[in-house]
Amino acid sequence: METTTGQPARAGSAAELFGARRVAPSILSADFARLGAQVAEVIAAGARIIHIDVMDGHFVPPITIGPLVAASIADQVHDAGGALDVHLMIERPGDHVAEFARAGADCITFHFEADPHVNRTLGAIREAGCLAGVALNPGTPATSVTELTSAADLVLCMSVNPGWGGQEFIASSPDKVSRLVDLAQVQRIEVDGGIDADTVGSVAEAGATLFVAGSAVFGDPEPADAYRRITTAAGAT
Ligand code: DX5
Ligand code: ZN
Repeated sequence: METTTGQPARAGSAAELFGARRVAPSILSADFARLGAQVAEVIAAGARIIHIDVMDGHFVPPITIGPLVAASIADQVHDAGGALDVHLMIERPGDHVAEFARAGADCITFHFEADPHVNRTLGAIREAGCLAGVALNPGTPATSVTELTSAADLVLCMSVNPGWGGQEFIASSPDKVSRLVDLAQVQRIEVDGGIDADTVGSVAEAGATLFVAGSAVFGDPEPADAYRRITTAAGAT
């Protein structure tokens, strides 16, 4: 099946994967010299959603990963029945949707703060055959999503200020997730930043179902064991 833009319609199978409670390892903290092997380790441990942090040096100071890197692991992840969760921390995100969809993204999330046309960009992401997500910085009120409940498939609640891995979890994040559950009525709430086996339980209890973990997985000498520990603590699959 193809969309009107000619992109493969991946959103159907991705919807099932993203519908379950899951931990999504972020490759931002992986060893890029052996990226395929690192991804294989977490897939072998049960991970099926791989989180890709795209930063442009403008919306956030660092420059990280682009569509070439996403494409380099797309087949590996899809062949394992998994999905690519692309988190755009960039200005003008709408300009890059088609490129990331072509690279193999299954879900594309961009920042509410980075785009004056959030509704339009969410529509463009769905049109490209992907699940559409909107991310909120810690300083952006949960109420921002009230007009977006039917346009977004996912709301990403940042539990650190975006830009770097390894930051401390913001303690008020579970309360914000609870407010989003009440307000958003969207199908999925993802939490990103400072997630480990100690912090994940609080946001799971608050109602989030997708938990991004970067340094807690790939900063561990045994990423597979770390992934399993966080998954167990989250009550995830
Ligand atoms: C931060 C990124 C995160 C990052 C999380 O801006 O969006 O996805 O990889 O890293 P940890 O889990 O180390 O906080
Ligand atoms: Zn992220």
